[in-house]
Amino acid sequence: MKWDSTLYDNKHHFVSEYGMDLINLVPINDTNAILDIGCGTGVLCNTLSKRCGYILGIDGSNTMIEKAKHQYPNLDFKYMDALEINDKERWDVVFSNAVFHWINNQDLLIKNIYRSLKDGGILVCEFGAYGNIQKIEEGFTKAVAEYGYEYHSKFTFPTVESFQRILEKHGFKIEVIYDYDRPTQLDAGRSSLDLWIRQFYQNELENFDENIQKEILELLAKYVEKDLWDETKWILDYRRLRVVAYK
Ligand SMILES: C[S@@+](CC[C@H](N)C(=O)[O-])C[C@H]1O[C@@H](n2cnc3c(N)ncnc32)[C@H](O)[C@@H]1O
Repeated sequence: MKWDSTLYDNKHHFVSEYGMDLINLVPINDTNAILDIGCGTGVLCNTLSKRCGYILGIDGSNTMIEKAKHQYPNLDFKYMDALEINDKERWDVVFSNAVFHWINNQDLLIKNIYRSLKDGGILVCEFGAYGNIQKIEEGFTKAVAEYGYEYHSKFTFPTVESFQRILEKHGFKIEVIYDYDRPTQLDAGRSSLDLWIRQFYQNELENFDENIQKEILELLAKYVEKDLWDETKWILDYRRLRVVAYK
């Protein structure tokens, strides 16, 4: 999946801003080693770096990693797919914000994370829960279908129960696990939804000429406005799943 790292930091920085709250669940310890999975442009790594001895940010997008390295030259970042983590007992904390729903094989992901943690190590993560952006997914599916494109969701938004099963299967002891609605406001104005869709559905949109892309975005806005538009701004139907679990 391609990522526009500039659009991400300029218009969708709310993703990492919400992640600041998650950071409060990470123990402060200046000898801890932390792995941040899907670090994006490195904003949360930078904050976490003040709570630990060492942090590595990994991400499966080169544009994100390049931007992270440019913004935080004193921190370590690596271009790497989370499904290829093969560390053994290296990390005190594995942290991740807004990433796991992009990874279909969550079983392998959790297996890798468990192996990579030291005994007593902790996983702190949050990502899209079952039902996340459901209106958007339905609207997008319907809009692109009008142009002959069959969209099947690329996301994996698990229920608490199914994610708990994966965690326990690999040996985690769960301290916190819950899902919650987090209505998420975009910048004021109709066009903010277009930018959001261009950010997160870029791969699918690229199948169409620019003028068709605009038509799709208009159709989508028409389909979802009764649920997500409040006359001045879009409020998206985010649902999150939050976990704190120990090895
Ligand atoms: C919504 S961004 C979140 C970035 C950052 N954690 C934050 O809170 O701002 C999702 C990130 O997950 C990364 N990602 C998605 N799938 C991945 C995978 N399989 N391995 C590593 N990174 C992945 C993307 O490249 C992207 O940077």
